[in-house]
Amino acid sequence: MSWSRAQRRLHWGVALLVALTLGLGWLMVELPFRPLAPKFLAYQAHKSFGLVVVLLVAWRLVLRWRRGRPAPDAGLPAWQRRAAALVHGVLYALLLAVPGLGYLSAASAPGQLPTTLFLLVPVPHVLGPDEARFLLLRGLHLWLALLLAALALGHALLALRHHATGRPLLRAMWRGQG
Ligand code: HEM
Repeated sequence: MSWSRAQRRLHWGVALLVALTLGLGWLMVELPFRPLAPKFLAYQAHKSFGLVVVLLVAWRLVLRWRRGRPAPDAGLPAWQRRAAALVHGVLYALLLAVPGLGYLSAASAPGQLPTTLFLLVPVPHVLGPDEARFLLLRGLHLWLALLLAALALGHALLALRHHATGRPLLRAMWRGQG
């Protein structure tokens, strides 16, 4: 069995969107308040891409549950296969928790900036403004986003290392061949 085309596209699509959302996260907080439009648009783009990540990751999990995944490389030592499964589980959890915390912190912000998906679809805020809760959730959002970036980078470097030593893991996710 190999990764399906949908599973491969979702993998690379989520990786691209997370990198874009991270970059926008830093850019939007650094942008000045005047003129306001670029900062406002950067916040809306960050929140919109982040919410799309949740939808795509949910879709990935459904596909994985229904279709499964290729068997781990039997040539790897058992501890490496266990460590990889653990890291993949943590990556999935962070891919849902980071945008979830971002949404909850946006909903708690004292400034109550609306969240509008791609400036088209208003997303209701389920929580009201609360400065203490906002500061806590914003901190968690930032630190878990940093952990997600560090783990994703380690995951990518290890995939490249396996590729360099002739293991077909990267090729399997890129072209679907084992
Ligand atoms: C994969 C998804 C996401 C990633 C990786 C991510 C990452 C980040 C990063 C790196 C920052 C910058 C923090 C700083 O420098 O202080 C940030 C800020 C922020 N994010 Fe996200 N984010 C994601 C999704 C979301 C979503 C879905 C929302 C809301 C719907 C959101 C709302 C916010 C808000 C409101 C801030 C700024 C808080 C402030 O103004 O200080 N994020 N995010």
